[in-house]
Amino acid sequence: MAKRIYDISWDEYQKLQLEERRPYLMQPDGAPYHTLFAQQFGLDLLERLAQSANEIRAIAKTREGSEFLKALLSHRRAMLYFSQPSSRTFLSFVSACQILGISTGEVRDTAISSEFKGESREDSVRTFSSYFDLIIMRTPEKGLAEHMAWVLSNSERPTPIINAGSGQDQHPTQALLDIYTLLRSFERSGGLRDRTVLFCGDLLRGRTVRSLSYLLTHYPNIRQVFVAPPQLQVGQDVQDVLKAKGADFALTGDFQGALPAADAVYMTRIQDEWDEKKGESARIDTSRFKFGAAELKLLAPRAILMHPLPRRDEIATVVDSDPRAMYWRQMRNGMWVRAALIAMTFGCDTAIHEHFRRNY
Ligand code: NCD
Repeated sequence: MAKRIYDISWDEYQKLQLEERRPYLMQPDGAPYHTLFAQQFGLDLLERLAQSANEIRAIAKTREGSEFLKALLSHRRAMLYFSQPSSRTFLSFVSACQILGISTGEVRDTAISSEFKGESREDSVRTFSSYFDLIIMRTPEKGLAEHMAWVLSNSERPTPIINAGSGQDQHPTQALLDIYTLLRSFERSGGLRDRTVLFCGDLLRGRTVRSLSYLLTHYPNIRQVFVAPPQLQVGQDVQDVLKAKGADFALTGDFQGALPAADAVYMTRIQDEWDEKKGESARIDTSRFKFGAAELKLLAPRAILMHPLPRRDEIATVVDSDPRAMYWRQMRNGMWVRAALIAMTFGCDTAIHEHFRRNY
């Protein structure tokens, strides 16, 4: 099991850089115990995860294979605690659990949970840990999943936590499925190296961008280009991380100018749920940051177009039928990657690998 966090106080723990927190969150074999942020994942782990996702995907195709997978964790239960809106992340986690035979429970509306009666989050999460073996949580607050992981690691049931989106901060499992999508897309053309990844949209408040941008620094010679109106341009914290890593990156407002050089374009939605004043985002001119028929003409023939979804109008529906549009496959990839992550959390990715080697 992971080094339990209790040998460090919460105050001391919080003073650590994300990378320094890593050892507290991992298992001896290098797999994550709690999955809280992208900085827990190095190249080896990303490779291992992608391989496991590929194996699960192949094994799940047959009834026998799917029965093998379902037997792996049929003695486990997972709690999905989603106090922020979600469709695909929620459903892909439920599906990932189903693939591995894990039964699930959920709280999505805290107005009908005991939090409404004034129960603290700590007590709610400890309650979940009494009934479940894994907690998958999405919250509007930055750092809450991490604090809960610390709380549970100090309890007699140090149930693992997976962060399914923490405010504007991190969305590690989205970044994992994005990397998996990039790896698969470039598999036959030299891999994820020597590429330009263009991010476009609300880069300031999009948590998927922060997590993915970090993971991309592990791959050789990746240039990151951030395209946004000035008010929504990527935050200083992300830029500082890229600088510290020696990553090649640029900021621009010229979408059409930057497009032809991109190997992957990662569109994002305007995150106006975070507006301080209602309707504030609507006053920002985002018209030049949308992907339509004209942008499709500028996109390189072998490039791919991604989006974490949900989209609004930043990708026109006419683009959907283009073979470079990767967002639907990207979404399905999320299910396989999350199944691989959960399998790894419970130490059964080796059994999956063995089964794959014997049968495929
Ligand atoms: C993203 C999120 O929740 O951050 N959605 C998702 O999980 N696929 C992106 C978004 O909401 O814009």
